[in-house]
Amino acid sequence: MKKYYFSHGRTALLNGLKFYNFSDRDSILIPDYLCEVVELTLKSLNLKILKYEMKDDFTINMQSLKSKLKLKNLKAIMVVNYFGFPQNIKVLKKICKKNKILLIEDNSHGYGGKENSKLLGTRGNFGFSSPRKVLQIYSGGVLYHKNIASIKLPKYKRTIKDFIIQLLSKHFSLKTLIKKNLILRKDFSDPTNQNDNIIYNTYIDDFSLSKIRQKNIKIEKLKRFNNYKIWKNYLIKNNFIPIFNNADKNLMLWCLPFYAKNASDAKKWFDWGQRQGITIFSWPDLSIDNISKNTKCFKRWKRLVCLPLDIPNNYLKHICS
Ligand SMILES: Cc1ncc(COP(=O)(O)O)c(C=O)c1O
Repeated sequence: MKKYYFSHGRTALLNGLKFYNFSDRDSILIPDYLCEVVELTLKSLNLKILKYEMKDDFTINMQSLKSKLKLKNLKAIMVVNYFGFPQNIKVLKKICKKNKILLIEDNSHGYGGKENSKLLGTRGNFGFSSPRKVLQIYSGGVLYHKNIASIKLPKYKRTIKDFIIQLLSKHFSLKTLIKKNLILRKDFSDPTNQNDNIIYNTYIDDFSLSKIRQKNIKIEKLKRFNNYKIWKNYLIKNNFIPIFNNADKNLMLWCLPFYAKNASDAKKWFDWGQRQGITIFSWPDLSIDNISKNTKCFKRWKRLVCLPLDIPNNYLKHICS
């Protein structure tokens, strides 16, 4: 597959869909547990959105997915490798082939991850990743597509905020010191606290592209894998269990998700993280619709806690000891 670099995962998705001539009657089937910006991206192309249910363990409710297959003008199914863990793609490939629909692999969370030597994001008709989530760069989204195309877009311009985040990422002790003492910080227990809903249509900036090309992905994967093990032991000691048990060194793990007892317990974890100078967070930015209707997805959201893996192994050992 060819690789095309953009500023964001959403931009890679947007431009991947432009390879096809969809009409405003066409629909795409996506998981119900997803950040709103993905929906906004699809809507910007006038696609109709249908949703299939995800289970609490982030596997697909196949009954729910199959029940949507007969709907008219269904053109594509999107599947998400949540937190870097691969979905079982075989069964989906079969379904898509049989129903003559496209399979799109959203590997935004796990750039560079592999399963049985196959790069994640390249297992469907097309796919995409978001290296900006796992590497310390200003921008970065990759589209994997078979076709060759010439796409002309302006380059992403870094903001002052990007610059400060990048600078701090090189000075971990300073970063933790600032985080511990921040007064104005994001409240991860507030579902309306969203800040990432812009549909960028830009290329990656030069600095981030050169960083991606130089980066030793294996070392990044190993660091994250080791942190995953440290967190997992810590959780077990405290009577919690990670949602995914099958972490492996070939995957690029974004974070370690688990369920807290309830929303106030989740908030305790976010606050504890802040006192340690690290970011423990909720995911994703759900749509207001989910929140106002108190959907199953919102109920899940309230208990889901994500533990970061982008910290030095020694520091994590220290806070978990
Ligand atoms: C599952 C999933 N897909 C796609 C995206 C979009 O990636 P990006 O933020 O790089 O545009 C995100 C994150 O926002 C995501 O969590």
